[in-house]
Amino acid sequence: MVWVIGNKGMLGTQICRTLKENKIECTGTDCDVSILDFSALEGFASGKDISFIVNCAAYTAVDKAESDVDFARALNADGPRNIARLAKKIGVPFLHISTDYVFDGSASSPISEDAPIKPIGVYGETKAEGEKSVQEETGDFYILRTAWLYGWSGKNFVYTMIRAMNMRDSVKVVNDQRGTPTNCVTLASVILKIIENRLAGKNVPNGIYHVTDLGEITWFDFTNEIKKEAADAGFLLNKDCVVNPCDTSEYPTPAKRPAYSVLDKSKIQKTLGISLPDWKESLKSFINSALFDKTRIE
Ligand SMILES: NC(=O)c1ccc[n+]([C@@H]2O[C@H](COP(=O)([O-])OP(=O)(O)OC[C@H]3O[C@@H](n4cnc5c(N)ncnc54)[C@H](OP(=O)(O)O)[C@@H]3O)[C@@H](O)[C@H]2O)c1
Repeated sequence: MVWVIGNKGMLGTQICRTLKENKIECTGTDCDVSILDFSALEGFASGKDISFIVNCAAYTAVDKAESDVDFARALNADGPRNIARLAKKIGVPFLHISTDYVFDGSASSPISEDAPIKPIGVYGETKAEGEKSVQEETGDFYILRTAWLYGWSGKNFVYTMIRAMNMRDSVKVVNDQRGTPTNCVTLASVILKIIENRLAGKNVPNGIYHVTDLGEITWFDFTNEIKKEAADAGFLLNKDCVVNPCDTSEYPTPAKRPAYSVLDKSKIQKTLGISLPDWKESLKSFINSALFDKTRIE
């Protein structure tokens, strides 16, 4: 049985959905079994036939982390260490989710897994510490770095922008941060493939992998495409809303964002023999799905 930790979050919800759709037995925990409490984790696993652990629980409030350093570090570094220790103790693989924020954003071409990490904020710093804790505790690990995630069950950029465009005559969006939006479905499908291979006894080399959709755009480009797709789907009530580009300097936030965070996905595609989808295709299927939550754009 696969144990998904952080199963009530945006990504965790999608992973459980994907596993169930593919008839893989899974169980989930969230704040009810805190990742900060090793005995609680051990108690939950006890007596269950756990064969694989996936961790999506994290401190994800990037700006708040700047002033809540200890708690962010506890959740992003100490929590994963506890899970990795338990995974090793019970002899199962551990897949942990990390982020493009471990890089400083100074690259100008897709970033490979072995590029030096250099976080520029507390969230990225503590996630980088989490990567290290996992590798220190167990050899049977997969660390999947992802970026710009959106999913049906969570607050995210797609819902926020459609709601904003419906409420205002114009929106300003940063046009100097480059990356790749990623549908949680893409990431969950990759995780499924790793789990299926491992449960079937096939080798998937342990290590760090970069997983996002394909392509390279700015938040401004993303917003224009969201506008188009939302209009086509009949979700855009205010079709005249103007999307204006702006620079990051015009939109100050407590935490700095990496200017460039396009990840090189060749390693995961080669290892699993898969082709990841293009970001536009993923956005289209997100907006046109019955799972799209219309209450989040009202
Ligand atoms: N969202 C993105 O754009 C993005 C980009 C790159 C990487 N990531 C990574 O992807 C992963 C999943 O992100 P997400 O957006 O799905 O996050 P999320 O929606 O915030 O989900 C995290 C879940 O963990 C739970 N949690 C908090 N403290 C916990 C604890 N002590 N024990 C157990 N569970 C706890 C949260 O509960 P509460 O909500 O009640 O606190 C929440 O349900 C994270 O590792 C994140 O760093 C996300």
